[in-house]
Amino acid sequence: MFLSIIVGSSRNDSQSAKVGQYIDKALTTDHALYSVKELFPKLWDNLEFESLHEKALAYNSTVYETLAKSDGFIFVVPEWNGMVPPAMKNVFIIADREFAHKPALLVTVSAGFGGSYPIAELRMSSYKNSRLCYIPDHVIVRHVNAVMNTPEPADADDKRIRDRLAYSIRVLEEYTKAFQAIRNSGVIDLDLHPSGM
Ligand SMILES: Cc1cc2nc3c(=O)[nH]c(=O)nc-3n(C[C@H](O)[C@H](O)[C@H](O)COP(=O)(O)O)c2cc1C
Repeated sequence: MFLSIIVGSSRNDSQSAKVGQYIDKALTTDHALYSVKELFPKLWDNLEFESLHEKALAYNSTVYETLAKSDGFIFVVPEWNGMVPPAMKNVFIIADREFAHKPALLVTVSAGFGGSYPIAELRMSSYKNSRLCYIPDHVIVRHVNAVMNTPEPADADDKRIRDRLAYSIRVLEEYTKAFQAIRNSGVIDLDLHPSGM
């Protein structure tokens, strides 16, 4: 089993990157950690759908090979103006089958009381063509500046969110094992149905 963590903030030294690094250290399963900035050089403003994936591969083929071999994903996504950052949405425009029929855990991040809008947005609109399967559990890291800063939890809230994250990762790992059977079943035919309805 191999997992990829993708940090959806394109800001330098973002709090989402901090959470991604915390998960990177906590995960015992083989995995890779990427920021969206490593995946894509720019937001594509003149869409040529046929060549988008090729351009992304030319930019960083290693990352796409790793995503393709991943069995599951953890997306760490901040709330920006009540939305998912555009660089994260860009991933779903450009990716081609790397995510298909694989489970994913959503971890959203807010400096305040936010974090629920990116959950709703990704659950509603990012799976159709990517065929990502978000597991029912998700994690919302609120007041992110106050948690995951030290090896040991700073207080009860810090401990609570770390425990919830650890639990949700264990759930993801079980989904990840089970979903391998779906992809190996022979039923999936993305050549016949490349786009969802
Ligand atoms: C452009 C921008 C818009 C933001 N809008 C929101 C928001 O709507 N709700 C919220 O809870 N936090 C918002 N924040 C604050 C983020 O929660 C905060 O920056 C946090 O650290 C997560 O983002 P980061 O991973 O980029 O650091 C916003 C931050 C930026 C940079």
